[in-house]
Amino acid sequence: MNWDDESAPVTTTGDGDRLVKAAADGDDRAVEAALRPKDLGEFVGQERVREQLDLVLKAARARGATADHVLLSGAPGLGKTTLSMIIAAEMGAPIRITSGPAIQHAGDLAAILSSLTEGEVLFLDEIHRMSRPAEEMLYMAMEDFRVDVIVGKGPGATAIPLELPPFTLVGATTRAGLLPPPLRDRFGFTGHMEFYAPVELQRVIHRSARLLDVEIEEAGAAEIAGRSRGTPRIANRLLRRVRDYAQVKADGVVTQEIAAQALQVYEVDARGLDRLDRAVLGALLKLFGGGPVGLSTLAVAVGEERETVEEVAEPFLVREGLLARTPRGRVATPAAWAHLGLTPPGQGPTGPGQQGLFDR
Ligand SMILES: Nc1ncnc2c1ncn2[C@@H]1O[C@H](COP(=O)(O)OP(=O)(O)OP(=O)(O)O)[C@@H](O)[C@H]1O
Ligand SMILES: [Mg+2]
Repeated sequence: MNWDDESAPVTTTGDGDRLVKAAADGDDRAVEAALRPKDLGEFVGQERVREQLDLVLKAARARGATADHVLLSGAPGLGKTTLSMIIAAEMGAPIRITSGPAIQHAGDLAAILSSLTEGEVLFLDEIHRMSRPAEEMLYMAMEDFRVDVIVGKGPGATAIPLELPPFTLVGATTRAGLLPPPLRDRFGFTGHMEFYAPVELQRVIHRSARLLDVEIEEAGAAEIAGRSRGTPRIANRLLRRVRDYAQVKADGVVTQEIAAQALQVYEVDARGLDRLDRAVLGALLKLFGGGPVGLSTLAVAVGEERETVEEVAEPFLVREGLLARTPRGRVATPAAWAHLGLTPPGQGPTGPGQQGLFDR
């Protein structure tokens, strides 16, 4: 099997070395291979996707057939790549890994497709970023296991039909909405990955701790799980940083207290917000009375690019119900005031608020 040639994802946002970002960095990739569950039984959570996928794979195996094409959608770090490898392992099939951005021309795809062996799993990461001509070639390959290879150029060009062995395409995307319907429709099964519950992350953390030879208490795992933003990749990363702290500052055992202390050092708070998240929220509350305030103004107030605030900090704040995006600007929710331990204007001893003053 080909476990190692996963192409590096292209980072489009400036979230640099944040500990709570969901995208993988070099440090993650080095350990991720070791921490990846190898079969469905080891894969934590995602009950529905797991159960459905289990049926799809078992049925295919019973028929002695190649499994249907599978589309996996969900936020970064939830286990799409992991699941694609599990699909291949469960089918006893080799896996070929590539990604949408790596396929610039239809010819690139033709070369990959024509070299597949029967039953092989082709994992196409970031499938929404494939080029148009490649996409169209893929339609035919998925449906009829056939491609037309164009030979020559201009008026003399001819299409040579090429039969492909049956294969299973596993497509992964963080943006299922961006997939053209004809492509989406050609997948026999679509699994949507959800954010993980804290108890599930706790299981992920225990499992990783065992593999990394880290001694961890139940409450220590719970502490890390609560700050991991529903994302196994972040849970694993926080675990590694907490391990460092436990080794240097204590006897290496991760207790609840050690985990909390460590994550305070790394500025990841009890809800998983980091410094940038809190800066955005703090500015919104303290400078703009909770909003509404325009995105650009908010970005200037925290000394960040507009895109960084919008793409890096806001999605999680919105998901947590701390911030709302309204047509008039960004607005803090009552939960935001409570989280930062502040009193909303007009409700406390600090007097009337500035609501509306800094509109846009
Ligand atoms: N259900 C799970 N159980 C245990 N570990 C998991 C699970 N899901 C993901 N992980 C771990 O989280 C890390 C990230 O998972 P993975 O690389 O599969 O995410 P991804 O969805 O492909 O992310 P991206 O969108 O960035 O490619 C891996 O180290 C993997 O071991
Ligand atoms: Mg991946």
